[in-house]
Amino acid sequence: METEARPIAPEAVAPDEAIAETSLRPRRLAEYIGQDQVKQNLAILLAAAARRQEAADHVLLYGPPGLGKTTLANIIARELGVNIHTTSGPAIERPGDLAAILTNLDERDILFIDEIHRLNHSVEEILYPAMEDFGIDVMIGRGPSARSLRLSLKPFTVVGATTRAGRISSPLRDRFGAVYRLDYYAQEHLAEIIRRSAGILGVSIEAHAVGILARRGRGTPRVVNRLLRRVRDHAEVTADGSITVDQAEAAMTAMDIDGQGLDTTDRRLLAAIVQKFASGPVGGAAVAAVIGEEVDTVEDVYEPFLLQLGFLDRTPQGRVATELARDHLRSLGYEVPPPRRGPDRVDAGLWDGITSEGRTESGMPA
Ligand SMILES: Nc1ncnc2c1ncn2[C@@H]1O[C@H](COP(=O)(O)OP(=O)(O)OP(=O)(O)O)[C@@H](O)[C@H]1O
Ligand SMILES: [Mg+2]
Repeated sequence: METEARPIAPEAVAPDEAIAETSLRPRRLAEYIGQDQVKQNLAILLAAAARRQEAADHVLLYGPPGLGKTTLANIIARELGVNIHTTSGPAIERPGDLAAILTNLDERDILFIDEIHRLNHSVEEILYPAMEDFGIDVMIGRGPSARSLRLSLKPFTVVGATTRAGRISSPLRDRFGAVYRLDYYAQEHLAEIIRRSAGILGVSIEAHAVGILARRGRGTPRVVNRLLRRVRDHAEVTADGSITVDQAEAAMTAMDIDGQGLDTTDRRLLAAIVQKFASGPVGGAAVAAVIGEEVDTVEDVYEPFLLQLGFLDRTPQGRVATELARDHLRSLGYEVPPPRRGPDRVDAGLWDGITSEGRTESGMPA
């Protein structure tokens, strides 16, 4: 897999990464950096549940990979002082599998369902009454004498996580009392995460080196933690192990990560849109085909960060590479052909010689 070699892939890539991540994972809400609004709301929800001595409301967490959904689910359990049972949408194949999990939960336990958008429909149907009334219906017998029997469950809390909120059916979504969206992290929060992780790893890092990593961290804690580990390796092998600005920059160059945090695949994607499709609009499938990736991968992994940077726009006609993206490619020495005329551009035929927004008709700044 190409992603194995991508130090800035937002998904967890290698099996040993899970181990590395666990040690860096904040355990309490107070240690969880950033996402202030989510934290505030969650703190209230948890305090209310604790005060009433009841199971907390069901919580749905959504947002791009690596932003801290799994971390938050574990924090919720720890803050409530209850057990967490972890499963995922694709792991629960049949309704009976879910029934077995549910009947094993203790009062107020957390059932964490990762990738909850991938639950199959028959399993989801069991989950509805379980979440709403803490009950499941089981069928006894077969044929004409079959009857359904309601089993009651101990009150519990579902924490669902997904990178694809749009793929969750509305009846399922409606059963969550709290829905929290995680957003890309601001640089200052990424910097804080880097400093915290460096402390845990016992590695010293210069203040400006923190900034170098934070800027390339794609707004994603998982990515900055991985960059930190890679730079630490680099510093250990080539110097005394402490991370200086020079060390950080050399490691970024070695990994081919540019000043905006883009790697070769990102640049290939942008260059394809700019060069092969005259900056768009172009459909996701066409882009995916040109760079040899799955459409879903393009949409889930590459595009969110490029949209966030303002390098891509999504229009009803497809993706469009922006002037920012063209400038970035140009600064790296790419050939940047003029964009196809879009609706926001002056039609040179109609507006012969007339300038708009301080630009001449050739598109150059006036
Ligand atoms: N707010 C935070 N403060 C400090 N570290 C964080 C924070 N959020 C996430 N991390 C770090 O980032 C890593 C990835 O987070 P996590 O596994 O929770 O992401 P996720 O949203 O569940 O990703 P995925 O969608 O791939 O499952 C964690 O190991 C943790 O160390
Ligand atoms: Mg996760």
